[in-house]
Amino acid sequence: MIDLKKGAELELDVESLAFGTKGVARLNGYVIFVEEALPGQRVRAQIFKKKKGYAEARPLAVIQQSPHFVEPRCRHFADCGGCLLQNLDYSVQLAAKQQQIHELLEHIGGMDAPPVLPVIGSPQIFFYRNKMEFSFSRQRWLTRDEIARNEITHPKSFALGLHARNRYDKTLRIEECHLQSPLSNQILAVIRAFTEKHPLLPYTTFGHAGFWRFVVIREGKKTNEVMVNLVTAEAPEGRDAVQQLAANLTAALPAITTIVHNINRSKAQIAVGEEESVLHGPGYIREHIGPFVFQISANSFFQTNTAGAEKLYAVAREFAGLTGQEIVYDLYCGAGTISIFVAPQAKQVVGFEIVPQAIHDAGVNCRLNNITNCAFVRGDLKDELAQVPLITRRWGQPDVVIIDPPRAGMHPKVLQKIIELAPRRIVYVSCNPSTFARDVKELSLRGYGLTKAQPVDMFPHTSHIEVVGVLEK
Ligand SMILES: C[S@@+](CC[C@H](N)C(=O)[O-])C[C@H]1O[C@@H](n2cnc3c(N)ncnc32)[C@H](O)[C@@H]1O
Repeated sequence: MIDLKKGAELELDVESLAFGTKGVARLNGYVIFVEEALPGQRVRAQIFKKKKGYAEARPLAVIQQSPHFVEPRCRHFADCGGCLLQNLDYSVQLAAKQQQIHELLEHIGGMDAPPVLPVIGSPQIFFYRNKMEFSFSRQRWLTRDEIARNEITHPKSFALGLHARNRYDKTLRIEECHLQSPLSNQILAVIRAFTEKHPLLPYTTFGHAGFWRFVVIREGKKTNEVMVNLVTAEAPEGRDAVQQLAANLTAALPAITTIVHNINRSKAQIAVGEEESVLHGPGYIREHIGPFVFQISANSFFQTNTAGAEKLYAVAREFAGLTGQEIVYDLYCGAGTISIFVAPQAKQVVGFEIVPQAIHDAGVNCRLNNITNCAFVRGDLKDELAQVPLITRRWGQPDVVIIDPPRAGMHPKVLQKIIELAPRRIVYVSCNPSTFARDVKELSLRGYGLTKAQPVDMFPHTSHIEVVGVLEK
């Protein structure tokens, strides 16, 4: 009999990858999730959590390497929480993501044979992101190497980078990241050199003190336009500090086309400001997806993988099955990207979105692309759709509803209103397969069956995956 108490050590063969990035091993049918373990590895692991149906373990050593192992490209791989699957062959990542969506639709969605298509991979697997968000922190994560060499060469109380693995309280000093571009690494270096020595300190939620909060870099992959968004708290000397930093950035890196400053006065650790000022350039960048050009402001949502977004939107458009006669509602429309993508094949598109700046960008984007059959409604969807007869009298009854909600999925009230709108077809674009499976189940109980689910990988080396589903009445 195997002792499976907490602390027990055992050898395990990792069979597959669970949703997230944990390896799955089995002992006489009993499931053990092993952190950071790859399918095909044999590992020595220690149990740290034991439940009735499963246990969780941490790997102590890899006894036999997986045939799917690849050497990670990034020097920060061992410490960074960014790309946990960079050591797993990309085709195996895609197969695992397809399997995970299949299982979620079975277990959460209650489906017997979910119609999940093979994953469409990202056209690039490095430097694929057009947006990166780096955090300032007073708690720097010391790397295993630094500790082993006992060489702590930078202050422990300052970091600009990404969260360390499984440590949201600590920030890893990032010198080089393979997700956005070499230019974004240079931008980070200039900002670090300035802020590390500056009398204003990184912000901390403890005591709601300090100034520097986030650096968000946006880059038009097709236009080479680059935005640096400095997100800070408020301080009397803050405006001078960001202006000086902006001058350093433009002098060192003329490729930067715009710099904006956002002040976030709240305790919420989000890289969004309540007050924005433009320090350099027009205050936005432009990017192309397919034949369309989009203007993007600092606080507007925009898909982070430009080449991947083209694939994603093409699937959404195909699933919408438009002939030019349809009224389409695009719920959670952001800066109007999907609306504009489907507009040439629709009679009328109506986008709904909560962020005012995104609605503004959506209008501008229509003009930039000579699109005249889109309208946009600003507000919280659960309020905007509250009076369905009013909405349909104003905009017509939708033939197709496209939804692209945030990770939490749809609010139950919004789901109810979609049923009342009674479209022929629903196209559901999701960045979270768990809430997708939950909402698909609810929609199926109300008469809409999932006929196809197409995963599209927008985030290589991470656990994230997008999925587009089409539901027919
Ligand atoms: C995943 S993004 C999709 C945006 C767009 N479809 C795209 O592809 O760029 C979700 C959008 O929903 C918006 N949103 C979040 N909650 C909302 C709500 N309650 N009502 C309306 N829009 C909301 C967000 O601001 C964001 O722009």
